[in-house]
Order: sequence, then C-alpha cells, then structure tokens
Amino acid sequence: MAVGVFDSGLGGLTVLDALVKRMPDQAFVYLGDNANAPYGTRTADDIFNLTCAAVERLWAEGCDLIILACNTASAAALKRMQETWLPGDKRVLGVFVPMIEAVTERQWGDNSPPREVDVKHVALFATPATVASRAFQRELAFRAIGVDVEAQPCGGVVDAIEQGDEMLAEALVRSHVEALLRRMPKPQAAVLGCTHFPLVEKVFAEALGPDVTVYSQPDLTAEALADYLERRPEFRGTGTGVKFLTTGDPARVSNKATQFLRRKITFEAA
Ligand code: DGL
Repeated sequence: MAVGVFDSGLGGLTVLDALVKRMPDQAFVYLGDNANAPYGTRTADDIFNLTCAAVERLWAEGCDLIILACNTASAAALKRMQETWLPGDKRVLGVFVPMIEAVTERQWGDNSPPREVDVKHVALFATPATVASRAFQRELAFRAIGVDVEAQPCGGVVDAIEQGDEMLAEALVRSHVEALLRRMPKPQAAVLGCTHFPLVEKVFAEALGPDVTVYSQPDLTAEALADYLERRPEFRGTGTGVKFLTTGDPARVSNKATQFLRRKITFEAA
C-alpha cells in the first residue's frame, strides 16, 4: 500500500516533489492522466468522471489514501466524489483546503464559525475550470468573512509550460497578472491555484510586486499530508519509493517529465 498522488498530467509532480522531500520514507504512486489532459478547459461532469476513473486505477495499486494534486480536479470533482461516490474505507484529499487554511490562518479540523481574518483582498490565479467552479470562494466562506476574492482564469499557461515554451508562459503570466491588477489594484495575497504555477512562481511574484504574499501549494500540501498521516498512520502503507504511471504514452511522458522537473523520471503505462 502507498499514498496515491493524482494529476491530470505533469503539474502534480511539483506537489509530489514536495511530498517526497517532506516524507522521504513514504511510498507514493503517481498517476498522470496525460491521455486526457488538460482538464482546465473541460466541463465539471467530464472532470468528475475522469477523476473517479483515475482514483479507481490508484485503488488497484493499493492506495487507500489519494491526494488530488490537481486544483481543477479538487475544485470541480472532489466535493461531489466525497458526497456521492467514495466508499467509507477510502480517503481522497485535495490541494485546495490546505491552501485556504494557510490564507485564513486556520488549523486543520478547526470547525469554528467563519471569522474575520487579516487578509481582505485575495487574488486567485487558476485554470478556467477551477475559476468557474467557484470552489475557492465556497471553501473560503466556510472559514472567513469579509474577504474579497478576484479570480483570473489563466488560459494558455498550462499548455505553454507543458510544451516547454518558457517565454510564452512568462508573457501569459504577466498579462494575466496585469488583467487582474486592473480589477483589484492592491491584493494583499495571491493564490497560485494550479499545480503548474510553482514553476513560474518567480514571474508571478515579480509581476505582482513585493507587497503581495504569494501562496504556493507544494509545501502547504506536504505539511498537511504529513500532519494527516501522523493522525491516521493506517493510511501510510508500507514500502518506500515512487512509482510513476500514465494513461498517455510512457516514453513521451517520461521525456516531458524529465524536462519539466530537470531530473530523470520514468513512467510506466497505467
Ligand atoms: N494540474 C491542473 C491544476 O492544478 C492544471 C492542468 C490541467 O488543466 O489539466 O489545475
């Protein structure tokens, strides 16, 4: 048994890297649904069905606990999966809630009523499907009041990063930041709500300026998972190491992943 880590494609590798760094002795199975990526421009029903199929594939690997290392899946499918589909002995956790807890300075499991928090103006950068889901605003409203969220659908950035076109990715990030700043000139915090964005975090930070705190997910997710496994050690499983599975072409995906993370990664067919 291992902890499963799922993403539509390669973006979740930024989260997986942080998980391995934080928990080097934990076994993980990573599954990228590269055959169906990107999810960011799909409908909520599509994302739900694809995410359920991927989770079932990870169950077959013995993963009773799965992290959706994909904001789009976390935002568009997770709540519906937990409410209507997930068997009681399995757990699926997303990357959204740890980030919202960080922004609202809450501890995991703090179920007290929403309260005023320091941050009042939050910029959210994410895929079009994540922005359309309004999951960020919904989860935030459970925890905080009086926070103004301006969300920017960042079309094109995921594709540019996947294609290794750094110049295009940077240009798109700058134009998305400019577009958001026209609507919210002084955000206090910016949330990078897409697993690809840590790779261009510096560009976001530069374009936003020094007064904006940028929240990036990999380390926040790693802390949240380490904390969860402390409390629920039965989900740790046994063994060590990481297995990489893809629904796409393993040779092609391995090549791209190696470019993406700048170290050798070998995928097997899912
Ligand atoms: N990994 C997805 C996310 O975090 C983005 C990639 C996609 O659009 O499939 O939102």
